[in-house]
Formats: sequence, C-alpha cells, structure tokens
Amino acid sequence: MKLNIAVLPGDGIGPEIVEQAMKVVKAVTKKFNHELSYEYGLTGAIAIDEVGDPYPENTHELCMKSDAVLFGAIGDPKFDNNPKAPVRPEQGLLAMRKKLGLYANIRPVETFESLLHKSPLRRELVEGADFVCIRELTGGIYFGEKGRKDGGNTAFDTNTYTREEIERILKLGYEFAGKRNKKLTVVDKANVLESSRLWREVAQEMAPNYPDIKTEYMFVDNAAMQIIQWPKNFDVMVTENMFGDILTDEASVITGSLGLLPSASMGIHTSVFEPIHGSYPQAAGKDIANPIATILSAAMMFEYAFNLMEEGKIIRDAVTASMTEGYVTVDIAEGESFKTSQVGDWIANWVERK
Ligand code: IPM
Ligand code: MG
Repeated sequence: MKLNIAVLPGDGIGPEIVEQAMKVVKAVTKKFNHELSYEYGLTGAIAIDEVGDPYPENTHELCMKSDAVLFGAIGDPKFDNNPKAPVRPEQGLLAMRKKLGLYANIRPVETFESLLHKSPLRRELVEGADFVCIRELTGGIYFGEKGRKDGGNTAFDTNTYTREEIERILKLGYEFAGKRNKKLTVVDKANVLESSRLWREVAQEMAPNYPDIKTEYMFVDNAAMQIIQWPKNFDVMVTENMFGDILTDEASVITGSLGLLPSASMGIHTSVFEPIHGSYPQAAGKDIANPIATILSAAMMFEYAFNLMEEGKIIRDAVTASMTEGYVTVDIAEGESFKTSQVGDWIANWVERK
C-alpha cells in the first residue's frame, strides 16, 4: 500500500518525539512492504517565527493532499504570559482542526500493567481501566463568538452548538460503544447550560435507535470525580470541546504518565494523529521526553487512517515490550533510564526484528 503522510513536528519536544515515531513508521512500512512517502510542514510558534502564520497555507495544502498527518506538539512559553500577543501558536492548531473539519478527537485511556504503580490512584482502582473519550473538536466555546466590550473591560466567549454538530459526534460515540462494551456516557452541564440541554435533548432522541447500547447522562463535575473514583465504570464517553479538553488531561494521568496517551482527530478531510500532551518546552532539545504517546499515535494512524491493524498491533506490542523490559525514559523509569532517541531506536529495532 502507498502511504502518503504529512509530518508536522511543531514546537518544544515536538521534533524529537516525532523523529522517534518516524523511525517506527519507517520500520513498520519496510517490514510490511508498504511504500512510504512523507513531507514535513511548518506549524506552531516555529511557523510564526519563520513565516508569521502558525498554520501556513502551504502546510494546509500539504495536509489536504496527504492520507494522514502525524503531529507533534504546539506551544511556546514566550506566548503564554503575553495575553496581548497578536498571533499565538495554538491558533495554528485550532485553524488546522477547523480547516480539516476534524470534529472528533478520539482519546483512548488505557493502562499499562508495568506502570500501574506510577498511577496517582491505587492499583485496584486503575488496573484494567480502559475507556475512550470522544471529544467534539470544532465547535463549542473554542469557536463561538468571542470578544471584548465596554472599552475592553468586559470579555466574552460563546458556547454554541448546532443539532447537526451534536448528532454527528454522538453518532460516532454510539459506533464506538457498539464495537466496545456497549455503554455511552454523555457528559454535559445540562442543569445550567442551554447548549448542554440541546446535547441532552439530541442524545435522548437518538438513544432509542441504539437499543443494545446503554446511554448514561452525567454532569461534567460529576464525571471529573468519577474518572478518578471509578475509572473502570466508563466505556465510551462523549462530550463537548472544552469539557473534553479538561477531562482528557485528567484521565491521562491515571495511567501513570501524561507522556503515554495518543489521539486521533478525524472528520471531513485528512485525519491527524498526535499525542495528548503538549510541547513540554522545559525538556526541548534535551533528549529526555517520552516518545511513547507519539509512537502510539503512529499506531493509531495505521489503524484508523489506513485500516492496517497488524501494523498498528506490532507497534503496540513493541511499546509494551519496551515498558516491560524497562527500556523507557526518565519519567517512567524505575532505575536506569534511557534517552528519547534510544527508546525510539529500541522500539524501531524491536519492530524490525519481530
Ligand atoms: C489539546 C490542547 C489544545 C486544546 C491547546 C494546545 C489549544 O490542550 O489538544 O488538548 O485546548 O485543544
Ligand atoms: Mg488539552
């Protein structure tokens, strides 16, 4: 098969972790005799520095003509404490999501046996936890009308959702639940927000069409609590953009490290595969960041964008082997730790030798 991918390393640790994922992608494509072609594109703070735009038009064209996008991370501290910055790296990520129509962000939360002791939760609470959070990604407060009034002294962001946007993401939630353990938790704040009441209304209309799936409704504050109290009770969770952003950061740490969880963003045009974590600028260039979330994002790319399940599985097996054998970066190491590049080499070699 011909695999045509766009590679967007972005900022901070982005280039280092994407480099490791690319080693693994190359090993897998070689092993399974695929033809790989890839091209790098600029995005984020580095794109602002070089061309003044965090998601330049030629990067968008590259994404549009590719079959999948492998993305690193975006963000730079020089913008974080400057609320007046005219253009911010994160706008590049949002523009990419919007222009590619990536309305669904799939974030699987899985635990690794060899890392359970690193979880902030007790082993018996997390052992076997396995759920998927489906976050709506192109609507809600991120994209609603925003602005200032009263001479700049009043600010507003609007949380807007249309029935159509809610329906398509819930439909995806039901499809995932149907392939998993047949439970869909719709997370909202319907006791307060009108937009959430529309979510719940639409969900209640759709639920009877999926009689084999149990639909459960949960307020977001309660969901935040349940994720750390009973993570095993979730199967598929579906929620709006902002709630999903917050809940998936929370959910990711119960696995033992933020550096482990991958994600897929899918929708109308090319899908994007990226780690959940950010650009971790303090570690940039030090060869210490954990590349696993990005490597697992590459596994999701094989599975979701190309339907190559065996290729995805061999990457997952290689990652599990690296953890079982202790060939891991400092954030999850017990004794001896390894560099980002060494872990990338080890995983790519494991794939080649298999
Ligand atoms: C994420 C990130 C982004 C978001 C930021 C970097 C804009 O936190 O992908 O979860 O809020 O969506
Ligand atoms: Mg986030």
